[in-house]
Amino acid sequence: MAKYRIAWLPGDGVGVDVLDAAKIVLDRIGLDADYVHGDIGWDFWCSEGDALPPRTVDLLKNVDAALFGAITSKPMKEAAAELAPALRDKGLTYRSPIVRMRQAFDLYTCLRPCKAYPGNALNFKEGIDLVVFRENTEDLYSGVEFSPVPQELADVLGRLAKPFAPFGKLAGDQYAVSCKINTKHGSERIIRAAFDFARKFGRKKVTVVHKANVVRATDGLFLEAAKRVAKEYPGIAMDDANIDAMTMWLLKNPFNYDVLVAPNLYGDVISDLCAQMVGGLGFGCSGNIGEKLAVFEPTHGSAPKYAGQHKVNPIATILAVKMMLDWLGEAEKGAALEAAVAKVIKDGTVKTYDMGGSSTTLDMGKAIAAAL
Ligand code: IPM
Ligand code: MG
Repeated sequence: MAKYRIAWLPGDGVGVDVLDAAKIVLDRIGLDADYVHGDIGWDFWCSEGDALPPRTVDLLKNVDAALFGAITSKPMKEAAAELAPALRDKGLTYRSPIVRMRQAFDLYTCLRPCKAYPGNALNFKEGIDLVVFRENTEDLYSGVEFSPVPQELADVLGRLAKPFAPFGKLAGDQYAVSCKINTKHGSERIIRAAFDFARKFGRKKVTVVHKANVVRATDGLFLEAAKRVAKEYPGIAMDDANIDAMTMWLLKNPFNYDVLVAPNLYGDVISDLCAQMVGGLGFGCSGNIGEKLAVFEPTHGSAPKYAGQHKVNPIATILAVKMMLDWLGEAEKGAALEAAVAKVIKDGTVKTYDMGGSSTTLDMGKAIAAAL
C-alpha cells in the first residue's frame, strides 16, 4: 500500500489540463501515493443532477488529501436548463461543488500565498510576498438565500428590523435575500490560523480586512474576534482596513502588507487581486484546509473556452501541489518543487500564453519536472 491516498478531482474545463501537468510533476517527485479519481463537475450536474455525487463525498472521507482542478458554474436558470430532461422540474438547485466540499468537510481555512517569483515579467512589482487567509465556510457563502422571498420571512424581518420597511412593501418575487452569517467560533479560528502562520514563518503583521463601518453586525463580530485573538500573539502586529480601501492600499503600497485575513467574500476578492499582483491567476494557488482533510486547487476557474487545448498555465496548480506536499509533511519535496518552479520562471524559456509564450500546459509541467 502506498503511504498516501490522494483524491484526484480534475473537474471539467481546463481543470483536466492542469491536473495532467500536475501528474507529470508528481510522478517525477516520486511521492509514494495512490491517486484515486473522483467524479465531479458540470457533466455530473447535467447527467445526475449533482456536480458532487455522493460517491465522491465518500471518497473524500477516506483520503489524506485531494487535488482539485476546476469546475464550471452557471447561474441558477442556465444550470436548470442544462439538466437531463428526466431531472428537470424536480427542484434541483446547483451549488458550487468546491463551496460544498469546503462546508461538508469543514475546510475552514482557505490559504492563498501570493509570491512574486523573481524574473516573472508579469509581476506587478518584484518582491511581493503576501499570504491571504480567507474564512472558507461562512459569511455570504452560507447558502442561506431566498429568491423569491417568502412572506413569512418578510413578516419577521419587518417586525425585527426597521431598515427593512422599504423592502417589505415589495412582492416576494421583486427582491432576493442572501444571508451573511458569521460566527464567533468561525471568525476566531481563521484569525488564529493567520496568526499561527505568522508566528511559524516569522511574519511581522496580520491585517484584518472587513467593512465593519457599514456591515456592523457580522464584520463587527469579525473585527472584535481579531482584536481578542491578537492579544494571544504579542510578537505580531495587527492592523485592519475596510475592504474597499484595502484594494487601493494593496496596489499602492503592497510592501506594507504581509498576512491578510478576511471573511469569505472579501477574502475571495482580495485573493484575486493579490494573485494578479504576482502574475495573474496562472500563479494563484489555494489550500482548503480543515482538521482532517485538505483540498488543494488553483485559484482560477475552469475557463471553458480553453478546455482541452492544453493552453493554460499549470503553475498555479503545481504550486498547489507544493502546498499539498507541505501539508502532508513532505516539506523537503515541497521546497524542491517550489525551487523548480522558480527556476523555470527565471529561465524564461518555457512560457505559456499568459506569460507571452506559446508553450503548452504539458510543456510547462515537463519543464518543471526536468528542473527538479
Ligand atoms: C474561488 C472561486 C470560487 C469561490 C467559485 C468558483 C465558487 O472564485 O475559489 O475563489 O467563489 O470561492
Ligand atoms: Mg475566487
